[in-house]
Amino acid sequence: MKPRKVSERVQWMGAIDWNRRLFDSLIPLPDGTSYNAYLLRGSEKTTLIDTVDPAKVDILLEQLRDIPQIDYLISLHAEQDHSGSIPTILEAYPHAQLICSQKAQELLIDHLHVAKERIKIVNDGEKLSLGDCTLAFIYTPWVHWPETMVAYLEEENILFSCDFFGSHLATSDLYAGDDPYVCEAAKRYYAEIMMPFRSIIKKNMEKIGDLDVKLIAPSHGPIYNKPQCILDYYRNWISDTVANKVVIPYISMHGSTEKMVEYLVSSLAERDIKVEKFELSSTDIGKLAMALVDAATIVIGTPTVHFGPHPIVFSVTQLANALKPKVKYAAIIGSYGWGTKAVEQIAGLIPNLKVDVLDTVMCKGYPRKEDFEALDRLADKIKEKHALL
Ligand code: FEO
Repeated sequence: MKPRKVSERVQWMGAIDWNRRLFDSLIPLPDGTSYNAYLLRGSEKTTLIDTVDPAKVDILLEQLRDIPQIDYLISLHAEQDHSGSIPTILEAYPHAQLICSQKAQELLIDHLHVAKERIKIVNDGEKLSLGDCTLAFIYTPWVHWPETMVAYLEEENILFSCDFFGSHLATSDLYAGDDPYVCEAAKRYYAEIMMPFRSIIKKNMEKIGDLDVKLIAPSHGPIYNKPQCILDYYRNWISDTVANKVVIPYISMHGSTEKMVEYLVSSLAERDIKVEKFELSSTDIGKLAMALVDAATIVIGTPTVHFGPHPIVFSVTQLANALKPKVKYAAIIGSYGWGTKAVEQIAGLIPNLKVDVLDTVMCKGYPRKEDFEALDRLADKIKEKHALL
């Protein structure tokens, strides 16, 4: 992709990674992603905001072929998908100064072995003149590492937000417009990357709240030319409000847990409670993470393997704990052949979830009438709690 004009001063650069299907060796990318960089030409200084994943550095170098000088290279975030090509750009532009936050200096030196003398630190709120325009830097930690900051181009009301508000979406569209799928992709991104830092993101949202933003230019996915939409979505996702919804991640080996989950889904639906169930041997964990963004209750379903939960349930429960969704209630259901410690082990895996555990229903062998009655009682309890939301 060639550079694309955003304004007289600003150009989109970067790489669209249509074929990438996994990020951080963990996160599914069903729609690929992009690594956006932005070239700003002020009357006195030329600036590049972020770079690209090092696997795509040749694309960025080609886009910069006719740019004889870069005065400032700004690193908003030290993760390698944006910073990994910094050493190459610094080598190509030996007079460029690398600008970053205080914390980023340490990370860029540790991860990329950048020479300290090439780095200029900017403080929270500091401004940088490019001649006829000015960039203001705002520290926004934990979106998504501790060093992250955003940059605001005052004269054009453009917020360069890096991961913040981003979406893993490969598209030829420069702008998001009204495309609802972009917000869907942004929700997936929020769920997988941002959700653990919800309380800090609230503070970051307050810090940028007074800016008059016309464009949000993230470093993944298209530019938001109607930024109110993504801002409203974020406000909703980080709020304390939860939906009348139960999420059930589960796995079954010989059909007992499957039967219980099916029964509970039906029982909850009869009580007008929305349910999203995820069979974990085939599930897209990104979709599970999205479901957890606003669910009021999580019910974990597992058979017993060597007295503990199924290893896939174990792993996904750990992940759910790390993502820190705002669920309020939890329950554990499942089955065992002759004995089980699955409930105790699962309970020990979720210290980050500030939940009331409503009940556990573990059946021996294939479920019987009394097991289904216990599931009905669980559904009653969930309905009672959700009525108070
Ligand atoms: Fe897109 Fe946290 O890197």
